[in-house]
Amino acid sequence: MRLSLQGVEVGYPAPSGAYLPALGPISFDVADDEFVCLVGPSGCGKSTLIRVLAGLLPPTAGTAYCGDELINRPLPQTAIMFQDTNLMPWRTVLDNIALPLEIVGATKTERFRIVRELLPQLNLEGFEFAYPAELSGGMAQRVALGRVILQQPRIWLLDEPFGALDALTREKLSLELLRLRGRSQQTIVLVTHDISEAVLLADRIIVISRRPGTLAADIDIDLPRPRSADMIYQPGFLRLAKQVRACIEDLRD
Ligand SMILES: Nc1ncnc2c1ncn2[C@@H]1O[C@H](COP(=O)(O)OP(=O)(O)O)[C@@H](O)[C@H]1O
Ligand SMILES: [Mg+2]
Repeated sequence: MRLSLQGVEVGYPAPSGAYLPALGPISFDVADDEFVCLVGPSGCGKSTLIRVLAGLLPPTAGTAYCGDELINRPLPQTAIMFQDTNLMPWRTVLDNIALPLEIVGATKTERFRIVRELLPQLNLEGFEFAYPAELSGGMAQRVALGRVILQQPRIWLLDEPFGALDALTREKLSLELLRLRGRSQQTIVLVTHDISEAVLLADRIIVISRRPGTLAADIDIDLPRPRSADMIYQPGFLRLAKQVRACIEDLRD
């Protein structure tokens, strides 16, 4: 499904009562099935933008669309994932992943069967009865990813989902994300501060300027798919990473 931002602006109320602009005006489209990475300095409005696309935050001005539908509330075809996994500590891995199934009324037996089929893909086999406190950061993110997958969303909004993980775990999980995305293509918008991660994953990278964030650059990542970890040493990859980096550096004051 296509996403479209048209002149979107967001301001937050300041303690003085004035409105502090945080984002925009910004306009761009994400095509159906496209994987877009958002990069930009911290505080430039990336999370704000994700919250607008998720229907969690109404823009101060402008409009956001998902297909032909105005985004003015969370839409059922959209799933969102943050750096904080928000796993429920009192629920096992199985029950955390199964949450979307529970919401639609699947029975316990059905939930158990569906989640168990998914666990090998998530590399979580044998951990179905573990609790979040017993998991590594990477495993917790895979649980959160499992929950997103079971929702079968057409739109994935991912706000620095792997931001708190070490570099190698992050790279591994990014590639798993591509693999899990698989054949049934989804539209994905992923925020990351990691330039290599952005180039490795994206069809397109959007660079956002300093606050209030506007569109600073829109870079096509024309690398072949499937992508693999060893691509990061190839000249084509390095050229693109350098280009993105230069755009971000241009934004610094
Ligand atoms: N709830 C809020 N109230 C007031 N200001 C906010 C709020 N959320 C974010 N901001 C401000 O808006 C700007 C953009 O924030 P954010 O979207 O979180 O940026 P990013 O995700 O790119 O780091 C920041 O300067 C931040 O301090
Ligand atoms: Mg953020």
